[in-house]
Amino acid sequence: MAGRSVLILMGSPRKSGNSAVLCEHLATGAMDAGAHVETFYLNGMDINPCTGCNECQGEDANGCVINDAMQEIYEKLKEADSVVFSSPIYWFSVTAQLKMVIDRIYAVGGGDKNILKGKSFGVLLVYADADPFTSGAVNALRMFQDISAYLGTTIVDMVYGSAYEAGEIAGNPEVLKQAYELGGKLGKVSSV
Ligand SMILES: Cc1cc2nc3c(=O)[nH]c(=O)nc-3n(C[C@H](O)[C@H](O)[C@H](O)COP(=O)(O)O)c2cc1C
Repeated sequence: MAGRSVLILMGSPRKSGNSAVLCEHLATGAMDAGAHVETFYLNGMDINPCTGCNECQGEDANGCVINDAMQEIYEKLKEADSVVFSSPIYWFSVTAQLKMVIDRIYAVGGGDKNILKGKSFGVLLVYADADPFTSGAVNALRMFQDISAYLGTTIVDMVYGSAYEAGEIAGNPEVLKQAYELGGKLGKVSSV
């Protein structure tokens, strides 16, 4: 089907880091499958934390009242068939850059205001420790499972691997292949 789109939310501050490498492989897989891919490098964008004002929760509310770059991301989230959350593990969870975006999805993720229902998710995680348990990646994996169940989305796959120095993940062909293949799968799905 034409016009499928994949939105990548990249939460690492390292522009040439391991998350960037995984995102590039995923994007190539999605584009090879015919999808349009857009990547937001969240670090340094004008995105503020949720203030908990709950203005977004009123019956007549129309999204988040904070006027910053998140407004553009809301539009992209609406349009996308698939959304990819990419992050290194920082202190046993995702980075603050990505968590701010996740918190702000509160404004568009509940009840009949849910703009993500029926969409597909992908997750890309990198961590320095040896495995997903000691690194804390499991916490992020569980968070995405809960978020997806709450929003009524489908997690197509979660790809994760260990690397420390920027770009080191390029030496792990298996995880690069998994990222490419996840892109290929996401590139073929349309939102319900
Ligand atoms: C502030 C900070 C906190 C980190 N916390 C963890 C951690 O809790 N567990 C872990 O395994 N690695 C941790 N790391 C290592 C990064 O996850 C690792 O270097 C990763 O490859 C960075 O990915 P990137 O190149 O995409 O930024 C941390 C790194 C930084 C800078």
